[in-house]
Amino acid sequence: MASEAGLSRGTLLAEAAALLAAGGLGASRREAHLLWAELSGQGPSASLVPPDSAIAREQADAFLEAVRRRAGGEPLAHVTGRIGFRHLTLRSDRRALIPRPETEGLVELVLARAPGGRVADVGTGSGCIALSLATEGRYQQVIGIDLSPEALELARENRTLTGGRVDLVRGDLCAPLAPGSLDALVSNPPYLTAAEHAALDRAVRDWEPALALDGGAGGCDAIAGLLDAGRTAVRPGGWLALELDCARSAHCAWLAGAFGWTDVAIHADLFGRERFLLARRSDAP
Ligand SMILES: C[S@@+](CC[C@H](N)C(=O)[O-])C[C@H]1O[C@@H](n2cnc3c(N)ncnc32)[C@H](O)[C@@H]1O
Repeated sequence: MASEAGLSRGTLLAEAAALLAAGGLGASRREAHLLWAELSGQGPSASLVPPDSAIAREQADAFLEAVRRRAGGEPLAHVTGRIGFRHLTLRSDRRALIPRPETEGLVELVLARAPGGRVADVGTGSGCIALSLATEGRYQQVIGIDLSPEALELARENRTLTGGRVDLVRGDLCAPLAPGSLDALVSNPPYLTAAEHAALDRAVRDWEPALALDGGAGGCDAIAGLLDAGRTAVRPGGWLALELDCARSAHCAWLAGAFGWTDVAIHADLFGRERFLLARRSDAP
């Protein structure tokens, strides 16, 4: 038990693995080691510490509490409170979607095409896209917009953590943006259908905000809203970059054309799935 004196690291990790296995997590020993490496602050070098080294009682108790949360199904990024995104380490909790590695590719596409000027990230969530653009690009202004006050609060904390210069604004899609003010509009909007959201694995559905995931009956409510309002917010010749579900990439490309966007192209994510839509605003009004 953690409350007994002289608890060794080996005993603690064995207890953690047993708790995780009882919670139904596979590879429970590996997960226990991963959690310890993260929470002890020792990182990968944690595995070099001899198993019989003593762990302070308070530290062991705090670790086992975190293990119980993980065993209860809470995502690793919430339990550790941290997630890596590109070169940033961000705070992560229930207030916003956990940044996914695929989304790093969306940032890459924007940096390659529109590395300067004024850019807005609609549905900024944790702020991962906006903060990456602000710290990696050479923008005059980066604006992060979200409807969720909780997500914006987390994005503000991440702004403080990373020092990224981002203006964070609460609003509905492009409503806070002046006409023709943007060189690029980027968004990873909610893009699942309501049925897909309802059928999600509980590890996602129970722990991440529905507002971040549920894109309405057909999954395209926010995307259609962005294709529509984005035409006003982006200057002629400016860029639109969206993350979407590969099941609807062809439909979204068609929709973009129907809303008058030009040079519409679909790009693959790091797993080869058609996940990103790029387009430009034509000169025509
Ligand atoms: C898929 S999450 C993306 C979060 C973050 N950008 C990322 O890539 O991890 C979608 C975000 O859009 C926000 N959102 C949903 N509907 C919105 C709306 N109508 N206007 C602004 N933001 C919205 C949600 O609160 C959520 O933070």
